[in-house]
Amino acid sequence: MSLAEEAPLEALEEQQFEVFPADLCQPLLLSEIFGNDRPLEIDLGSGSGKFLVEAGRRYPERNFLGVERLLGRVRKTRRKACQLSLTNVRVLRVEIDYAVKYLLPADSVSRFHLSFPDPWPKRRHHSRRLVDVEFLEAVVIALESTGELWIKTDHADYFRWIEKIAAGACSTLQEVPWENEYPDTDFDETFAAENAPIYRLRLRKVSRSPR
Ligand SMILES: C[S@@+](CC[C@H](N)C(=O)[O-])C[C@H]1O[C@@H](n2cnc3c(N)ncnc32)[C@H](O)[C@@H]1O
Repeated sequence: MSLAEEAPLEALEEQQFEVFPADLCQPLLLSEIFGNDRPLEIDLGSGSGKFLVEAGRRYPERNFLGVERLLGRVRKTRRKACQLSLTNVRVLRVEIDYAVKYLLPADSVSRFHLSFPDPWPKRRHHSRRLVDVEFLEAVVIALESTGELWIKTDHADYFRWIEKIAAGACSTLQEVPWENEYPDTDFDETFAAENAPIYRLRLRKVSRSPR
């Protein structure tokens, strides 16, 4: 039985909002995915897509790609994007690190958003933290000149860790003031309800890609 016979029409429509790369060893063909070359923003760990979909609705002149590994969250995201017919929103189910290092073309991303990455609080798990020197190097390569990385976390220790790594990359990424121009994420709302502090860092690329 073919996929078209098995899947309800609704699910097929929703699939159009997910990116299924033909070749995971080649960079994504972004202009084919979105049908245009508008500025691209990437939400790394996009969860159930609240931020991604609302940002896509708010800024139709930009493209938004979510990267999320959990199937249920990817499905929720594409359902929301489909319901609003957001042609500028897509979601990709893959590991963040792999997407940034291998799937995003150099100089292709206008802004990365990294909101509440898993903090891995135990010392013996620190090596699992997403943000490290290699990750920031890959981000710099994928960013357009003057592109930006916006990071938020509720975890003070992880924030200090990120600041330290960012300081080591200051020849390529420089801090600029945060601005409240984006919608809240699910975790923003959770921590706001608890009155928990949220730490923010906005970094702008200041040099050409090393590639
Ligand atoms: C703490 S939640 C934050 C979700 C959303 N950014 C927010 O602020 O509400 C982290 C999300 O990132 C996803 N995630 C964590 N590590 C990931 C990885 N290495 N690759 C892809 N997704 C990841 C998780 O599945 C989860 O949905």
